[in-house]
Amino acid sequence: MHTASPNADWAGIFRGRRDRIRTRTGGGLILWMGHAPQPRNYAANTYPFRQNSHFLYVTGLAEPDLLLLSLPEAGRDILFGDAASLDDIVWTGPRPSLEELAAAAGIDDVRPADGIRAVLDEARRQGQPVHYLPPYRHSSVYALSRLLGIPMEEVGGRASSLLMEQVAIERSVKGPEEVAEIEEALGVTGRMHRAAMAAARPGMKESELAGLIQGIALAADRAQAYDPIVTVHGEVLHNHSYQNVLAAGGLVLNDSGAESPMGYASDITRTFPVSGRFSPMQADLYRAVLRTQLGAIAMIRPGVSYREVHLGACLVLAEALRALGLMKGDPAAAVEAGAHALFLPHGIGHMLGLDVHDMEDLGDIVGHGKEKRPGQFGLNYLRLSRPLEAGFVLTVEPGVYFIPALIERWRAEGLHQEFLDYDRIAALAGFGGIRIEDDVLVTPEGARVLGPPVPKTVAEVEEACAR
Ligand code: GLY
Ligand code: MN
Repeated sequence: MHTASPNADWAGIFRGRRDRIRTRTGGGLILWMGHAPQPRNYAANTYPFRQNSHFLYVTGLAEPDLLLLSLPEAGRDILFGDAASLDDIVWTGPRPSLEELAAAAGIDDVRPADGIRAVLDEARRQGQPVHYLPPYRHSSVYALSRLLGIPMEEVGGRASSLLMEQVAIERSVKGPEEVAEIEEALGVTGRMHRAAMAAARPGMKESELAGLIQGIALAADRAQAYDPIVTVHGEVLHNHSYQNVLAAGGLVLNDSGAESPMGYASDITRTFPVSGRFSPMQADLYRAVLRTQLGAIAMIRPGVSYREVHLGACLVLAEALRALGLMKGDPAAAVEAGAHALFLPHGIGHMLGLDVHDMEDLGDIVGHGKEKRPGQFGLNYLRLSRPLEAGFVLTVEPGVYFIPALIERWRAEGLHQEFLDYDRIAALAGFGGIRIEDDVLVTPEGARVLGPPVPKTVAEVEEACAR
């Protein structure tokens, strides 16, 4: 097994995670679904395999076609899978035995895959509940339907909200070995970002930079934690095309992160000038975003809600944008009304862990607890609003975006005109966007920015772009 903390007692850690979740779920069985390979066009030509993150969390096993059943008694877990056939070995090489995999995960009961039906049928005969998490892949929906004898369209609705809640609690607080994994991933990610800054030139295609950074991760045997965003159109929040050409005087937004050996994500964004020097307006807006990001990090500590951090950061941004003549009136009133969301429609950040948006498959319970999401434009996109606890790992990623369609719509509707100088804003409609993102650990005292520093001030970024 590959890890950033090879000396940690990983088998004991996985056992502890399973036992805590088992105890808090309070009876019944827990069915942990590992992923099956996903064919692209025929069975042997598959998309890169990525294990289900919950399964990774309780086993660390990244191999396909495994299932785990946690029985109600402490320490009782059964790993189900099939040994590699001779055909498998001929085509794809030898694999660790199921016993070896189980030992690495602290599991001492291993059975063939088709043995799981009998155990589940017996549990159901005894009236024991079978808890499982909501599946997001069709292959898992199908497998659950077959294993539990329930119609496919009912599988999602019958997922265990008790298990979802307990997994969210357990996975939200990161142990030191998890933080070490994230920081390991950030080491590679820092190199990706520096390389992009150093290589960018007018006339290059976005795809050349995207290829460069992904090559760095690949050369380090690391996957991407998500499809990188490498774009001159930073105002398109999740832009995944790489077809534009870098122009002198423009900006590049690079939002990318490698995975750690065990599958932990990193998620860093930097924005830099194609020609190596920010224009005066670019530098002003960049400093506004940086001040917002540093302000948000300074607010982070246990007990503060991420909604408060978000709104506090928006206030810093609104004050800076008023100083630049783009906003007007009282910044606090502008933020309360939601006028700043023209420039910053997304939340200040999200949880980070085995997923880049950690546990987003479990729904609002992770980021919002039992609170309902607010309806106001901007606040409705918050992925995290609940009170922070020591051990949470979060992204802090404010931005300023000039989204032409949004500016036109708001202007036509006269929305928030007491707070927005539409003439000045419209003059910047082709500006693009700036985002600055770091990954932060909530500590008992406050916050620690994780990983090696990546150039962030105007001077540091210009130096990293020096040519
Ligand atoms: N890295 C993409 C995002 O946080 O949404
Ligand atoms: Mn992010």
